[in-house]
Amino acid sequence: MPIVNRVAGMKDEIAAWRRDIHENPELLYEVHRTAALVVDKLKAFGCDEVVPGVGRTGVVGVIRGKSGDKGRRVIGLRADMDALPIQEITGLPYASKVPGMMHACGHDGHTAMLLGAAKYLCETRNFDGTAVVIFQPAEEGGAGGKAMVDDGLMERWKIEEVYGMHNMPGIPVGHFALRPGPLLAASDRFEIAIEGVGTHAAKPHLGNDPIVIGCQLHQALQSIASRNLDPLKQAVVSVTIFKAGDASNVIPQTARLAGTVRTLEEPVRAMVKRRMREICDGVAAMHGAKVTLTYDDGYPVTCNHVAQTRFAADIAREISGPAAVDDDVAPTMGGEDFAYMLEARPGAFIFVGNGDTAGVHHPAYNFNDDAITTGVSFWARLVETAMPAGR
Ligand code: NI
Repeated sequence: MPIVNRVAGMKDEIAAWRRDIHENPELLYEVHRTAALVVDKLKAFGCDEVVPGVGRTGVVGVIRGKSGDKGRRVIGLRADMDALPIQEITGLPYASKVPGMMHACGHDGHTAMLLGAAKYLCETRNFDGTAVVIFQPAEEGGAGGKAMVDDGLMERWKIEEVYGMHNMPGIPVGHFALRPGPLLAASDRFEIAIEGVGTHAAKPHLGNDPIVIGCQLHQALQSIASRNLDPLKQAVVSVTIFKAGDASNVIPQTARLAGTVRTLEEPVRAMVKRRMREICDGVAAMHGAKVTLTYDDGYPVTCNHVAQTRFAADIAREISGPAAVDDDVAPTMGGEDFAYMLEARPGAFIFVGNGDTAGVHHPAYNFNDDAITTGVSFWARLVETAMPAGR
């Protein structure tokens, strides 16, 4: 069963919503216009319930199937609504109207596709049970998914399973990719403040050079992935900021390093964190300097549940055929706050192909409207198959 016919007929309408959202990007929790647009559309489609303000600016829509929701299953489908602080260079007729802000991750497409699915499901109601469409703010670093979960999303609507979808440049349009287990990494931030003793550059013996200390720290941190980690597991420790000094004849008093840690398993994440502390303490003791590590836990690992992943892969194969579905795709070290929803309920996250486009978070990126029918058909069939009508 390929693309849903009714969905194919809605493609231009959905693309128009997508382009409207694209022109008007909003950041983090400030997705007021986008959330209002979502609310208006869900109400116009005839959703049984439309609730804004969940997790600050998130929106929830409830669509009940043919025989209501008595004793039936409840399935959540999630899209994200926020854009990025990037200056768009696409030159498209519907390019961002807001300087320094653009939909560079395709959340405009995710929102439009889930709206399309909501419209289809409201029209057809060819399922028993309840579909809950979830539109979250602040995926890009603001943990909007966590805010919605903390606001009682799963309990208030009795959601039993939850699914998320993200476009992926490099995967052909019409194709899907996913895997059971870890799909995206835990993404943490760290900052290391070095407080040494500054001195005249010609008299280094009178101080302890925080630049030398910083260099040793940077080197030692590289040994975590190369020498502390089982080579069959994955971790990235990247120092991305190293700041020290202002003059060529002064050894500074302080230096600052900062960066990111990406891991795919909690024990590995804990090990990296522990080794970072030991290295900071050890290098500090070696030089008699003060080294302070601040480690901020970011999004957890996005970990797909086995049964739901298998189910999502079956739906994807129904839409696109077996050759177009990679159900054992390699995980990526990017992060995704759908992780919080997968910690709260079983479910799966799936990539839908965006074709040969610029990568996400690139100023030339654009969501591919040709992916719309594939993505919307997936949502439609997922609901109709998980909660079949007339049973
Ligand atoms: Ni994204």
